[in-house]
Amino acid sequence: MDKRPGVMRSLFDRMAESYDRGNRTLSLLIDRLWRRRTVSALGIRDGERVLDIATGTADMAIEAARQADCRVAGIDLSAQMLRVAVNKAQRSACRDRCAFLQGDGTRTPFRDASFHHAMISFGIRNVQDMDSLLRETRRVLKHGGRFAILEFSLPETPVIREVYLFYFKRILPFIGAAVAGRKEPYVYLRDSVLDFEPPVALEQRILRNGFRLAVSRPFTFGVCHLYVAQKP
Ligand SMILES: C[S@@+](CC[C@H](N)C(=O)[O-])C[C@H]1O[C@@H](n2cnc3c(N)ncnc32)[C@H](O)[C@@H]1O
Repeated sequence: MDKRPGVMRSLFDRMAESYDRGNRTLSLLIDRLWRRRTVSALGIRDGERVLDIATGTADMAIEAARQADCRVAGIDLSAQMLRVAVNKAQRSACRDRCAFLQGDGTRTPFRDASFHHAMISFGIRNVQDMDSLLRETRRVLKHGGRFAILEFSLPETPVIREVYLFYFKRILPFIGAAVAGRKEPYVYLRDSVLDFEPPVALEQRILRNGFRLAVSRPFTFGVCHLYVAQKP
């Protein structure tokens, strides 16, 4: 699949306005629970600095600011997703504690060891060079710092998998089109999830890039998966 930064930027620029509506509808609001649990897994404390990579419309940044009196930097390729993020952050716990930056998560301007924690939700699947992203995140994390990765996966239990695949392949793009007014982003969502590596492969990739694996666990029958990597 073509995941070059320019292609991703323009895809997400086009869907920014309807992105939150689509998420809430397609996940039946369960994404909020997944996000809350992912941020909790970092154990953020007051005064710490958190990097939200591929921050999109800032749901994770806002959740982190809600859970602790921390400072959050959100980075994303898409100016339009960031426009929504800035507006939402103004009306949230993030208000004076989050800053947003347009840029590529594989090449950030941050100094070595400048963050206590990092996170990426539903973003790593869209990154062309995942190894670069992991190495860059490792660089900007402090020793002992945690990196939470939340990403879609496919259920392993056969019956649940079949039902889910039917929904995902046949129904999701049409619901997405009805909610968001365009089908193309949801065809991309479907294809990119079906094409994405399974948890065991992503676990190996995390280890190969110099992290320890602190947590690896499925959410909601394996519809998505949380990985918490730790810089030694
Ligand atoms: C599916 S959205 C996820 C947004 C948000 N994290 C969430 O949980 O809703 C994927 C985001 O990844 C961003 N993205 C893709 N590749 C990126 C990269 N190399 N660097 C930074 N952001 C990237 C896109 O612009 C998009 O906003």
